[in-house]
Amino acid sequence: MTLDGPAGSGKSTTAREVARRLGFRHLDSGALYRALTFALLDAGVPESAWAGLGTEQIKAFGVSQHPTEGGFEVRLRGRALVSELRTAKVTDRVAALARLPAARACLLELQREAGAHGRLVADGRDMGSVVFPDAAVKVYLVADLAERARRRLLETGGAASEERVARQADAISERDGKDSGRDISPLRVPEGAVEIDTTRLTFEEQVAKVVDLVRRLTL
Ligand code: C5P
Repeated sequence: MTLDGPAGSGKSTTAREVARRLGFRHLDSGALYRALTFALLDAGVPESAWAGLGTEQIKAFGVSQHPTEGGFEVRLRGRALVSELRTAKVTDRVAALARLPAARACLLELQREAGAHGRLVADGRDMGSVVFPDAAVKVYLVADLAERARRRLLETGGAASEERVARQADAISERDGKDSGRDISPLRVPEGAVEIDTTRLTFEEQVAKVVDLVRRLTL
């Protein structure tokens, strides 16, 4: 099944828990985009040169993924990446990387390969529209911008003061704009997706809704 939606809509945390309850594997496609962004920044490739890289050059950076019990570990030349994927620098630059056709082509292959390891809950921006268009169940999560900003702050351990929520909302809205406005694989509701607005749902409620939907549509 696929789970798409804008930044801060709760996709990754929801996808992880839904996968656990259904016994599927969780594919966090954003982690792959983040890993490649980290690889380019770490190698000191200036952003002005990113668009000139071909698919083979991008592959040569050595981003890979390896099945774990409930999902996949993302590695850069054998080194597992975790906290490196969530730094402000990577979050700030990832949308620029995600609009490059060569980067998307390279990661498309990795994402489809993940399907070979069994049933997936795949979360991202184009899982239901481009990567797995034939998925049995497609979900699109939405939530009010201010609520998404508040959740992001709480998730990262920050206090959700009005001023910080407003600043976080600006950052999220900027990334949404880039993700929705790009020419290739823009963020949009995939055909056949069920839209769930999580603004007023608790985490447990949103997980239960998605799990019920999958059970209803596939069992
Ligand atoms: O979901 P997450 O915030 O980790 O995604 C990071 C970024 O990776 C997104 O803002 C988007 O630019 C890119 N992305 C994408 N397509 C996906 C998943 C992520 O373009 N399927």
